[in-house]
Amino acid sequence: MKRIPLLAVLSLATGHAAVAPTPPPATPPPAVVTFASQATQPSGSQAPGDQYVMFGANPQPGDKEGGTAAMNLVKLKDFSVTAPLAGAGRVIPADLKSPDSVKVIAPGGGVVTTGILWSRGKKAANGYADVASFRITNPAASSFSVWVLDSTLKVKGNGNTGLALRVNGGEPLAPCATVKTDSANEFTQFTVTGASLTDDFTVTVRGESDEAFLALAGLTFAVLPTPATAGKKSPVVEQKGWLDLNKNGSKDVYEDPAQPLAKRVDNLLKQMTQQEKIGQLNQLVLGDRKSDAALFPLMRRGEVSSYIWTTIAPALRNQFQRVAVYESRLGIPLIYGMDMIHGTNTLFPIALGLSCAFEPELLERAQAVSAREARAEGVDWVFAPMCDLARDPRWGRVAETCGEDPYLSALCNAAQVRGFQGANPAAPDRVAACLKHYVGYSAVTGGRDYNDSEITEWTLRNAHLPSFHAAVKAGALTVMSSFNTIGGIPAVANHHALTEILRDEWKFNGFVVSDWESVKEMIKWGYAKDKADCARLALNAGNDMDMKAESYVPNLAAELQAGRVTAATLDEAVRRVLRVKFQVGLFDRPYVDEAGCNPALKVPADLALARECVAKSTVLLKNSGVLPLAKETQKVALIGPLGDEHREMLGCWGGRCSWSVPTLATALKAALPAETTLTVVKGCALNTVPTTKTLQDGRIVPDPGAPGTDADFKLEEAVQAAKDAEVVIMAVGEPNGWSGENASRAFLNLTGNQQILFDAVAATGKPIVTIVFSGRPLVLPTIWEKSAAVLYAWKPGSEAGNGLADLLVGTMAPSARLSMSVPRDVAQVPMFYNHYNTGRPRSGQYRDLKDMDAKFWFGYGLTYTTFAYGPVTITPATKGKPATATVTVTNTGKRDGEEVPQLYIRQLVCHEGARPMQELRGFKRVKLQPAEKTEVSFELTGEALGYVDRQGKPRADAGAYEIWIAPSAQQGTPVPFEFAP
Ligand code: NOJ
Repeated sequence: MKRIPLLAVLSLATGHAAVAPTPPPATPPPAVVTFASQATQPSGSQAPGDQYVMFGANPQPGDKEGGTAAMNLVKLKDFSVTAPLAGAGRVIPADLKSPDSVKVIAPGGGVVTTGILWSRGKKAANGYADVASFRITNPAASSFSVWVLDSTLKVKGNGNTGLALRVNGGEPLAPCATVKTDSANEFTQFTVTGASLTDDFTVTVRGESDEAFLALAGLTFAVLPTPATAGKKSPVVEQKGWLDLNKNGSKDVYEDPAQPLAKRVDNLLKQMTQQEKIGQLNQLVLGDRKSDAALFPLMRRGEVSSYIWTTIAPALRNQFQRVAVYESRLGIPLIYGMDMIHGTNTLFPIALGLSCAFEPELLERAQAVSAREARAEGVDWVFAPMCDLARDPRWGRVAETCGEDPYLSALCNAAQVRGFQGANPAAPDRVAACLKHYVGYSAVTGGRDYNDSEITEWTLRNAHLPSFHAAVKAGALTVMSSFNTIGGIPAVANHHALTEILRDEWKFNGFVVSDWESVKEMIKWGYAKDKADCARLALNAGNDMDMKAESYVPNLAAELQAGRVTAATLDEAVRRVLRVKFQVGLFDRPYVDEAGCNPALKVPADLALARECVAKSTVLLKNSGVLPLAKETQKVALIGPLGDEHREMLGCWGGRCSWSVPTLATALKAALPAETTLTVVKGCALNTVPTTKTLQDGRIVPDPGAPGTDADFKLEEAVQAAKDAEVVIMAVGEPNGWSGENASRAFLNLTGNQQILFDAVAATGKPIVTIVFSGRPLVLPTIWEKSAAVLYAWKPGSEAGNGLADLLVGTMAPSARLSMSVPRDVAQVPMFYNHYNTGRPRSGQYRDLKDMDAKFWFGYGLTYTTFAYGPVTITPATKGKPATATVTVTNTGKRDGEEVPQLYIRQLVCHEGARPMQELRGFKRVKLQPAEKTEVSFELTGEALGYVDRQGKPRADAGAYEIWIAPSAQQGTPVPFEFAP
């Protein structure tokens, strides 16, 4: 479930001090949010003056309500409703008679989400153009808080530089994030805090142009009666050096920071009622409940343990936390979870890219930055790293993985855990990590997300589990169960995986959270009858926390009563959750520093790291010598939809960042010598719809879109720019949203008209350096063939432009290696280098696709110099010392450079089960000057050669092996080795 995270916070709390639990207030009547825009102007063909609202899920005239997931533009006047509709998270066009207003009703207070409202405003003397105003009324509450959550604000209009909010016609409040709109279409975010309760709000745009256009998309308001505890410290709870969470006037063991963890957990558990225990297994999503006015009563009763998707709102988090801590009986704090996958504000390359660095410490450093930024925003727990193994590039979520190799993936994911959690996850700059998706999610049939998986125990143990196991050993505090089934059993109810392997074998003592609603999805799978059945099956299997499905709280009491769930099972699950809450420090430090949150803050050292990551994760796949660009080059053309684009650099989980990041065009201009001219031509859009068409013979093929649907398609301009240049750089790929969750692809081609653009530019005969931006390996035969050089940049993040410019001009040299093989054709997938030899190694090919090799195998990557490998020599084991394999690596080129020698092994006979023809079991990085050579050695220990047997035990057999030390999985000559443990 991908949503644009919370972008704006408007704090209007007028709380007063109160410390003791208060009785739940009577449900107030609806709050009403009314928008009134001054003028509207969507874009293109719509008539000026029309008012538009975006509705979800293909709304038709006459529809009653629209969701907010997939937005579609609907003219208000064409849309009618017969009755006002209530319900959180829905657009409620209750007042459509007036073309000027949209009313959003929050029943009993609560959370509402609007669609998109397009608006236009004229600039006033103060430089601001007011574009939309809204009013909130809630006659029942004399004091209430309004939180503007989770919105996308899209500004159109040249020179607009920021958004702000005005209250009661006053001066614009300073946005939290400094917004710079450097292009006509800019997504942006802002946070406003410290306003006082008032009625009239105006969204305003600061700009140079006379007019501003704005779209407010999916604006979510939480309209909640202000709890008595808001914004105030409780003299009852807040004691010197400890918190009297149960408000009994004495320091209980669980409240005493000096007590050992296990004792604190036990002491608290003993004080809990059954319903409070069940509540600790319940994770909610703000904005999801039918009536969020019920949230506070739920917290007071201790029936909610965790929230996800409530950042970046430290003030809101604290307000909720105070209700849980001050007003519930035992004061158990809430834990806040959020998806920070490849960065929080500073965005790093996607994990698939980062893993290509073959430098696990780099991932550790990157995730430490993300952890610090996440904690500052009020997140205690991130849903990363993703330990799934990437074997099928059609599956969109390969972007989030560390590639196809269990060994590399294990090292990278353990490193990410260390980065997130550090030595002490309770530190104010660390968070709890969550290993996902456990297990088998990446093996989904056909590469289609959310599908079933069929995985044998042998493959599970030796391919899919090692990365999870390594990350558990690195101390990961939580694990997320996955959406898929394995052999018909949903992962969320898979006792073998969740209990026998994770707990019994690996001794994992953190907790397992389900994925988004997967507990109740067992009904749709046809595995469970109803939500009670779901709750029982999941909890008994070892899934401790229920994300969003709300299956546990209403059902577990009856299941316990009936004896279908035991008290011991419940206690154990609760103990695990509480343990993690203690471990991240929540019982001693439940709040975050509201003033310390500044998502706009760009830390130079973090940016430098992000830039280093870009250079180290971009793989050079081909180079005729055109790279690095010669200093004498006078004219460079940068062509393609991604050359001057920054949002598309950020990747599938990059949507929450508010920054403008330097585009490749901006960065390259700065990096090239002043005398060099850089001509930038977009050439075509990144994608157009539709994306496939059916030919007369019935075949379905990719379709760049009907002529005329791509307004950016300007072949002649691109061709002319290429002709005028000495070197062409082409920036092509796929959109952010085409990888990641629910983004499987059938064709692995360039989207839209990009291939046509490339072919036309290639026909000029000019040398082309192609940079591919994508969340997965793509199949690009003509790019491989006709480009003079290819850089595979994945989705590089905040410092995409600078990092790539460094490589192009040669201030950095590429050194990355593919962590996922690139197939020749989509017909070959799933494909991965560590496959079996089979009984007929050369047979079994497709009749119509003879070459079964990948285009580029795992481990492959070039740099600006060349290296030669000598023969591998084996030094036999001596007493107390394992055998070693050694190779001499020489820099045979003209520049210094970094090489990544890789150790591959193969066990020739294994009675436990056949082993793959090659397995990576070691790699090193060496830096060599021209003509310099070095010896690189690897120890051939049982650990380096072994596997996991069918009982889950690590094992290494005596006998015959083959050993390679090579620059990639496709190179090198194996030497025989006899292992004697
Ligand atoms: C569903 C995704 O599968 C998972 O990766 C993510 O952490 C959760 N949604 C929460 O957003």
